Amino acid sequence: MPDSIDFHRLWLAVAQVPHHRDPYSAHGPDHWRRVERNGCILAAKTGAKIHVVRLFALFHDSRRENEGWDPGHGKRGADFADTFRDRFFDLPDEDYELFRQACIWHTEGVHHEDPTIGTCWDADRLDLGRVGMIPSARFMSTVFGKEIADHGVIHPWLHLAEPYLADTD
Ligand SMILES: [Fe+2]
Ligand SMILES: [Fe+2]
Repeated sequence: MPDSIDFHRLWLAVAQVPHHRDPYSAHGPDHWRRVERNGCILAAKTGAKIHVVRLFALFHDSRRENEGWDPGHGKRGADFADTFRDRFFDLPDEDYELFRQACIWHTEGVHHEDPTIGTCWDADRLDLGRVGMIPSARFMSTVFGKEIADHGVIHPWLHLAEPYLADTD
């Protein structure tokens, strides 16, 4: 059941990926954590499925092979999650498909009307400041994502993530 996902245990396992030993690389675990935080903030208003968003944050860049143009890394991340499903977490097929689509298309996709997939992508793009890019409302799928991008920083909404992130480090 989604409510039983042990995210702490899952993070420990996934973060062992060899090419992400540097937690502060542009697409490494430090970025994943901020995407998770952003996604939890967004989900408070977008109605996104929170477990899907948190799994996206963890896996979407988990199988990158470099820090530059890396085609197919989203699909590799989704496929990597397959190896953990049932052993580390369970998710209904319908929700797992949302997760897979969010991962596979997170680079090439621009907007998505599904609130969960849109929230995943907005959460990722709201962290573009780490690579010197200013998040733009034009590339946000959700109304709340646009509001945050227009504001410039996400900090006024940080409290919205607290209920979801009690089990993080
Ligand atoms: Fe990515
Ligand atoms: Fe990312």
